[in-house]
Amino acid sequence: MKILVTGGAGFIGSNFVFYERAKHPEDEIVVVDALTYAGNLETLKSVMDDPCFKFVKADIADRDAMDELFDKERFDVVVNFAAESHVDRSIEDPGIFLRTNILGTQVLMDAARKYGVKRFHQVGTDEVYGDLPLDRPDLFFTEDMPLTASSPYSASKASADLLVMAYHRTYGLPVSISRC
Ligand SMILES: NC(=O)c1ccc[n+]([C@@H]2O[C@H](COP(=O)([O-])OP(=O)(O)OC[C@H]3O[C@@H](n4cnc5c(N)ncnc54)[C@H](O)[C@@H]3O)[C@@H](O)[C@H]2O)c1
Repeated sequence: MKILVTGGAGFIGSNFVFYERAKHPEDEIVVVDALTYAGNLETLKSVMDDPCFKFVKADIADRDAMDELFDKERFDVVVNFAAESHVDRSIEDPGIFLRTNILGTQVLMDAARKYGVKRFHQVGTDEVYGDLPLDRPDLFFTEDMPLTASSPYSASKASADLLVMAYHRTYGLPVSISRC
């Protein structure tokens, strides 16, 4: 199986790559990452020479670059970790969050549709459910709670989730979403 991991030079994406290499060494992994301030290629040093691993520096919102990559690699699965992910930065400058988190997800799903990807997994966040009071550790979010995003970051992630569900309903793209 060939897996595209976007944002694989970031915090969680890189750990997913290590987990996947250890658990399923037979799978091929391609990481796409734009190496923004949040990405660090050094993190992936231990897998760089692995014949089943490839790194591509690219922006998920770059439609031509993604089309070329999907055409060349013919992925089975896409796991979309790539995002602008820091709430405070989204308050300073929301625009880049909308571009990467929403439009970037759309570009990836369009390519996934075009090239017959078998599963598109969107890495979401529990922040789409808003906030819980700090003094109530007994409270939890559940999946059937309404989306009440409270920052431009969480609003962009909630928007992406809605778009992912719409691509499933409208175009039949096989999708899953996790909101850890
Ligand atoms: N860290 C958390 O606590 C947490 C919690 C829940 C959900 N998430 C979600 O998990 C995912 C990964 O989070 P993280 O903490 O690893 O983030 P991170 O900021 O550490 O990593 C994000 C990665 O995406 C890359 N990236 C950013 N814009 C890009 C673009 N346009 N094209 C390609 N690559 C781009 C960055 O270079 C970086 O390597 C995000 O989607 C985030 O919303 C994170």
